[in-house]
Amino acid sequence: MESFKDAQQERRALTLAEVNALSARDFAAHFGGVLEHSPQYAERAAQQRPFRSVEDVAEAFREAVEADEPEAQRALIRAHPDLAGKAALAGDLTAESAHEQASAGLDRLTPDEYAEFHRLNAAYHRKFDFPYVVCVRENTKETIFEGARRRLSHTPDEEQRAALHEIGRIARLRVLDLIQQGQED
Ligand code: GUN
Repeated sequence: MESFKDAQQERRALTLAEVNALSARDFAAHFGGVLEHSPQYAERAAQQRPFRSVEDVAEAFREAVEADEPEAQRALIRAHPDLAGKAALAGDLTAESAHEQASAGLDRLTPDEYAEFHRLNAAYHRKFDFPYVVCVRENTKETIFEGARRRLSHTPDEEQRAALHEIGRIARLRVLDLIQQGQED
């Protein structure tokens, strides 16, 4: 069998049995990117093994975030780059974020759309002091714009919950990418 290192280099999705058998360190290496710039949650999720399904793995990440302090949850939200923001323009995103933003065409906006994103991101930061996070792969450019306008009317508490919900959705899709489907053992 190929080594874990080989699988990592190819970013090969592992079977659930392989995931359950990884050392804590290899688990953290494989799933470290599930939550943006926040590999500590992979260490906590690893402790929930053995997992019986791919959805169980995603749930372990959600629970690890849910169990954390509100200030740490805000730090997790703040670890996300602005959509179509400076980091995206500079090519300075994680591979996961770049792929997600491209999936909704956020890397190919017209000048007017960039300007509108810039305006919405700035208004959002002013109100909530963290970036607008949405599960891009479950949305289109239009629903992402619409969500930003709608969520600007939230209270800070409502918005923190909304952002964490979206982060759970993002994490779930990243987990699905990292585990082979239809192989529950
Ligand atoms: N939704 C999916 N990926 C991202 C990201 O990298 N940043 C933000 N703000 N939202 C996202």
